[in-house]
Amino acid sequence: MDPDLRSCFVEGMSRAATFVAVATTDGEAGRFGVTISSLTSVSADGEHPSLLACIHHRSSTASAILRNRAFCANLLHEGQLDVANIFAGRSGMADHDERFSKVDWQPGSLGQPVIAGATAVFECRLATALYWETHHIFVGHVTRVTLSDNPATLLYGQRAYRRAVEFGG
Ligand SMILES: Cc1cc2nc3c(=O)[nH]c(=O)nc-3n(C[C@H](O)[C@H](O)[C@H](O)COP(=O)(O)O)c2cc1C
Repeated sequence: MDPDLRSCFVEGMSRAATFVAVATTDGEAGRFGVTISSLTSVSADGEHPSLLACIHHRSSTASAILRNRAFCANLLHEGQLDVANIFAGRSGMADHDERFSKVDWQPGSLGQPVIAGATAVFECRLATALYWETHHIFVGHVTRVTLSDNPATLLYGQRAYRRAVEFGG
């Protein structure tokens, strides 16, 4: 690929500020979790609401979701930078059991790890997955949504964590 095209793509996408979530999974393949910003709503009006997440094929969480057939998308609160860094491996924690030992969580209705303090938690059964070049695109059927009282979600844009500020007037 043209390296200029790649770097312009990366810079352009860095300007698309997104929210930060942790995709978690548990089951026969074990318990894993990874920080993602690729969480997107697909439909509110199908048989169930649905969402998608793109996770690198080398991520152990991606392989585990394929086997566990379920995952949970935990949308982080703006006070949860530490949780984002832990599950992005930025705190030197490659071991996923160690990642989970550092956060407060409990199994949700599908047995998937629900992280305490998340602004919204989407528990999903894996509906389908597409392997696209470097990433798995997971589509989940949402079976339960849990909302916290504080909706201030952590954002990420231009390579930094951010918070949303409302324009006055
Ligand atoms: C804010 C933020 C967003 C990220 N979004 C994604 C994403 O959408 N998909 C992905 O595969 N990795 C994403 N990453 C990178 C993973 O969190 C990182 O590669 C992690 O170390 C993978 O861990 P694992 O290989 O142990 O599963 C993101 C990282 C950060 C800090």
